Amino acid sequence: MPDSKVPQHIAIVMDGNGRWASKRYLPRIAGHRQGVESLKRCARACDERGVRVLTVFAFSSENWKRPSEEVSGLMDLFALALSREVRQLQADGVQLRFVGDRAGLSARVLQHMQQAQDATAGNSRLVLNVCFNYGGRWDILQAASTLQEQGLAFTEENLSQAMATAHVPDPDLVIRTGGEQRISNFLLWQSAYSEFFFSDVLWPDFDAATLDQAIASYAQRERRFGLTSEQVQTGSA
Ligand code: IPE
Ligand code: IPE
Ligand code: MG
Repeated sequence: MPDSKVPQHIAIVMDGNGRWASKRYLPRIAGHRQGVESLKRCARACDERGVRVLTVFAFSSENWKRPSEEVSGLMDLFALALSREVRQLQADGVQLRFVGDRAGLSARVLQHMQQAQDATAGNSRLVLNVCFNYGGRWDILQAASTLQEQGLAFTEENLSQAMATAHVPDPDLVIRTGGEQRISNFLLWQSAYSEFFFSDVLWPDFDAATLDQAIASYAQRERRFGLTSEQVQTGSA
């Protein structure tokens, strides 16, 4: 039985890479590079704590508007990280999934994504969803188009089934690092009843202690889903 105090699905807005680098007089890409290391550490820590799904925001629909050298640096880093890490992910039993709009991504990046996804498809310890070229609004629109194309009714259930994260339950806990308290077009539909935890820690500095703080905070919350506290406690609804 999973411990109900441990969120089964954690989603993270990995923010603060640029500021981490600026503080050290380094180029922003150095912060993104360190961010990859932080993600590897975080995935391991999540697995150790019994988390089954980790979803991370790596590149948003809006991040294309950044300076072109940062965008191309992020694309290169993404492709490099995928080719380098797939073996370790395989050894760790991590199933890698990509969530986001494939349109606009280069053939090279798409090829690395496909290879990494195929190589880890049989793993089941931890599902790692990497949201890349992802936006919550894009996701809702693509799901709605799918329903329309398939002639399906516009119900909550059908829309959820058509969302890009239909292979996992909705996130229990959404963490945002880097001090901002906003959603920035992340999992708009899926986070309807998620708990939120905001940390000032910059993503490259995120460690197991910060993860434990977030999980401890989550464990103290009462998720009511619209019910009264009494209904939740007596299980009467
Ligand atoms: C998050 O870090 C990573 C991406 C958006 C790709 P940022 O690059 O946004 O870092 P800050 O917010 O500028 O510090
Ligand atoms: C959100 O961070 C996107 C990712 C972490 C990939 P941003 O840094 O892009 O968000 P804003 O611009 O501060 O809202
Ligand atoms: Mg940012």
